[in-house]
Amino acid sequence: MKRKRTAILISGHGSNMRSLIEAARGPDFPAEIVLVLSNKPEAGGLSFAKDSGIATAAVDHKIYAGREEFERSMQILLDLHRIELICLAGFMRLLTPVFVGGWSGRLLNIHPALLPAYRGLHTHQKALADGVKIHGCTVHFVVPAMDEGPIIAQAAVPVLDTDTAESLAARVLEQEHVIYPKALGLIASGQYRIDGNRVLCAEAIQEPLPLRMPG
Ligand code: GRF
Repeated sequence: MKRKRTAILISGHGSNMRSLIEAARGPDFPAEIVLVLSNKPEAGGLSFAKDSGIATAAVDHKIYAGREEFERSMQILLDLHRIELICLAGFMRLLTPVFVGGWSGRLLNIHPALLPAYRGLHTHQKALADGVKIHGCTVHFVVPAMDEGPIIAQAAVPVLDTDTAESLAARVLEQEHVIYPKALGLIASGQYRIDGNRVLCAEAIQEPLPLRMPG
């Protein structure tokens, strides 16, 4: 099996990055994490990746005149490492349509809400303010519009009466760590097809990615 050479883009703590790195340690996992790139040199996730023997790079967006220049530098590194798939994992920079277009169908993101509900920031606060009983997270292909694009996997998380934004975020994050590796595995395996906005598992897959609803 030829594993897909994958880069993870982070800005901070990188707990999703860790779950992807750990999943990709499995010999049968169809993606190999070969590069972790951060726009923040101080991002905590970089040292974990380095200690795991993965190439790391910091491309500090602040030293560039604009997004295009910043992305050109990232693209050079992505080319250098012969990257085939990118996972955004808490990467806090908006990407230009040119960059996104160049990676169409090969760029994944995780968002802490059940899209299309609660795009943007502060998703947990918004869910609590609306009084919804079910919240969750989504892995999706990235398209130029923010937090849109075909959905690959979702996990639902019940909202408890006792929840604060922090407690809800923590339970959602646990589920992010479950679905992101599954979603990357599916896309890297190529066992899917896209029909309109729908990402459909190939028939050969016995256990398609479910809507997870923990206990
Ligand atoms: C996660 O909640 C993810 O959904 C969002 O940013 C957060 C990143 O967390 N895009 P981490 O850096 O992976 O711990």
